[in-house]
Amino acid sequence: MATTFVDTIKPYFTPCYRAHMLAVGVFDLWSQDDVKTNWADILDRTSRPAGTAGSMPKAGCPEGVWDQPTRDQFVSDFNAWKAGGFL
Ligand code: HEM
Repeated sequence: MATTFVDTIKPYFTPCYRAHMLAVGVFDLWSQDDVKTNWADILDRTSRPAGTAGSMPKAGCPEGVWDQPTRDQFVSDFNAWKAGGFL
């Protein structure tokens, strides 16, 4: 099955994560275009272990930060989304 933004990627981006990133004024995590445009930056930040400098998602939402298995799964899905042509 194809890895799509709506079915696979967007569910990682909770309403609270989205709101924080909108407040920072960087981009809208619910916008497929924004996430595609910032793909490399997002991969870079989400690849950094929780608690290290610049790691995303940051602490601040009730759902907290990602544990390492979640982080690894996201990176895998995020790469598959790109490999499949950003559907
Ligand atoms: C999956 C969720 C998230 C992703 C993918 C993400 C991604 C990113 C990326 C790629 C940047 C760097 C932008 C740039 O270099 O221009 C950034 C910056 C930032 N994000 Fe997030 N973010 C997420 C969640 C959060 C959360 C939950 C918070 C706060 C509670 C947050 C707060 C910030 C802040 C304050 C900055 C700018 C300052 C800094 O780099 O530390 N983000 N984010």
